[in-house]
Amino acid sequence: MGETSAVRGGVAVVASLGFPESGKQGLFRDFWHPVAWSSELGPAPLSTVLLGERLVVWRGPSGPVAAPDRCPHRGTALSLGSVDAEGCLSCPYHGWRFDPEGRCVEVPQLRAGMPIPARAQVPVHRCTERYGMVWACLGMPRASVPAFPEWDDPSFRHVACERYRWKTSPERMVENFTDFGHLGYLHDGLLGTRDDLVVPDHRVRREGLSLLYEMTMEVPNPKGLFAVADLDSARGTQRNSYVLSLPYTIHLVSEYVARGGRRVLFFAVQPHGDGTCSGYCYQSRDFDLGGADEPYARFQALLAEQDRVVVESQEPLEVPNQLGAELHLPFDKVAVAYRRAMSELFGPDRQDEAEAGAALAAAGGGGTCS
Ligand code: FES
Ligand SMILES: [Fe+2]
Repeated sequence: MGETSAVRGGVAVVASLGFPESGKQGLFRDFWHPVAWSSELGPAPLSTVLLGERLVVWRGPSGPVAAPDRCPHRGTALSLGSVDAEGCLSCPYHGWRFDPEGRCVEVPQLRAGMPIPARAQVPVHRCTERYGMVWACLGMPRASVPAFPEWDDPSFRHVACERYRWKTSPERMVENFTDFGHLGYLHDGLLGTRDDLVVPDHRVRREGLSLLYEMTMEVPNPKGLFAVADLDSARGTQRNSYVLSLPYTIHLVSEYVARGGRRVLFFAVQPHGDGTCSGYCYQSRDFDLGGADEPYARFQALLAEQDRVVVESQEPLEVPNQLGAELHLPFDKVAVAYRRAMSELFGPDRQDEAEAGAALAAAGGGGTCS
């Protein structure tokens, strides 16, 4: 914690992270990130932090709205205010009212007929709602919200697991989700067993902004503890297909080969930019449709807690930029591919390039060499 080392222009800069999450030109701003469960967004506004920026999120008549959580009048947190029937947000201090486009539509202290200054507005961000989650993009989106094809498939039942916030970097959180070597060791009896730790062969391929990989493995039946598997026997074979949408979302389809049931995990990380991140996870299934949902949520919560203790202990907090800084063996292929892709997209060189481009644009654009 305590990673925030500077604040520039109201945006926290996390200088110690290998992949700078924030800063004026943070490249991560050009992707969609989850900021809340839809179910959390009731009549009151919410406050959250994304990439070092404090946001207010509220529900407008045509969808969720996200904006800097800062009133242009005196910097008050707008998330302390209230939302009216028209979806306008009122600041708690002097009652200025902002519509879902961020325009100030009322300044109660002004006499009738006095104009509201044009600068009295909050610059709203792109914000949308998908899969029962609220997503925001602070810049220009380079990709769509990651796909979750089963969401609209009526043969699936979806269980939203409790969101968890860890003191780690989003890269560490994502890598953990996709680390095969720990499944049978750390999650002995749940996702694997300690008597069978050799990781089956698998390949990783890159397609645009995604990493794709598959792996077939033996899994235990955790039925004594959690009724969450489509298995009769004590063990079974599971075919896993992953899509990792860069930078921070994973879609995993696990098919139980013997009976054909599929469990889908959709996992997206909210990078807070302050040395913590939050994980949003769905456990979805197309079997046991009449069964209780609670074991699936509890199962995920136990796995996450086992992971949390380990991941929060990892040093450095950020994933190193240099591959040689940590050891990689053949079963770490996904981590290697992830680090390479992340370096290529977000590494210090790209960050410098983006900042230089922005500086050039701010100085009048174009530019000539002399
Ligand atoms: S600080 Fe928000 S209306 Fe005055
Ligand atoms: Fe794990």
